[in-house]
Amino acid sequence: MTPEFFINLPKVELHAHINGSISENTMAALVEQKGGVDPSWRLAFKNGESDTLESVFKMFKLIHKVTDTVEAVYKVTYDVIHEFAAENVKYLELRTTPRSEPSTGMTKLSYVESVIRAIQDCSKESLDIIVRLILAIDRRHPVSVAMETVNLAAEYREKTDGLVVGIDFSGDPNAGDGAEFIPVFEEGRRQGLKLALHLAEVPAPEETWKILQVTPDRIGHGTCLQPDTGGSKQLEDFVTRHRIPLELCLTSNIVGKTVEGYDNHHFQYWYDLGHPCVICTDDKGVFSTTLSREYSIAAETFSLSDKQMWDLSYRSIDFIFSDEHVKHMLRKKWTDSKDRLSVK
Ligand code: IMP
Ligand code: ZN
Repeated sequence: MTPEFFINLPKVELHAHINGSISENTMAALVEQKGGVDPSWRLAFKNGESDTLESVFKMFKLIHKVTDTVEAVYKVTYDVIHEFAAENVKYLELRTTPRSEPSTGMTKLSYVESVIRAIQDCSKESLDIIVRLILAIDRRHPVSVAMETVNLAAEYREKTDGLVVGIDFSGDPNAGDGAEFIPVFEEGRRQGLKLALHLAEVPAPEETWKILQVTPDRIGHGTCLQPDTGGSKQLEDFVTRHRIPLELCLTSNIVGKTVEGYDNHHFQYWYDLGHPCVICTDDKGVFSTTLSREYSIAAETFSLSDKQMWDLSYRSIDFIFSDEHVKHMLRKKWTDSKDRLSVK
């Protein structure tokens, strides 16, 4: 399989944080517009570099200093959608944390509206991509803020006729006790929002067990669910029994050093079990990757054939936060692609 095969393969991206997905080009344009950005700021990890989760989270803080206006937030969202569309991502769920910036007048409301406007503007162009939005809860912020995010998501879901589909739970996994947010997740579910939660990104078996009881619709990372990665049989059994899909982000885990190397990635374990796995980028800008590259790394590392890669991509459609009509449309696109890709 050539790099072109992975670019031409139709794909679904379900785990992409907007500010972590900023490409080098967009970043350069924003930095130039802004001026006065400290040249020593490190705004991405280049291919092959790895660091710690702590450094990854420091980087997000710097990126947020560059994307501190509604215009910048619009541009990032608009560009990220175009970049995913250019590598044949046909369905994209973006996620982002509503953020205010008093110095520029940006409020959480104007932030969310800017993101939504960019998505809507893209949908008026002839791009072959469907985009949905997930609002993110940062676990470093108070529970009351998380509750506001749920209400904001529910409000904008109504206002946009279903463009906002769910709630994410993210931020530094070493910060705070995630179990405190359980009432927030329950409220989100009550309001009809889907739950895509970062879980077991680092070993935290007690917290993970408590949060699992809300039965998230999808799990981000799930690196430390199995006993040999700091989880437990109980956690693994729960996830297996409920067939909770895992959003797996290979390069992200390597750069953040929560996984030692590609060959040790938990993808292998869950894939071999026949468990629902979706390959995602997490933060394609910060980790200097693309979804096509992540597919290519998975194929090479785990010796998967073109048919297996096509199937992996096709099965991802089952786990999107959209209705059967959208799934049906996507499945047709995938089936049509088979001949073009010479997949038997
Ligand atoms: P934003 O929400 O669009 O501003 O995207 C950046 C934010 O996403 C970060 O500040 C984190 O809260 C979150 N994020 C990105 N990658 C990860 C991850 O691997 N684990 C947990 N949170 C993450
Ligand atoms: Zn993530």
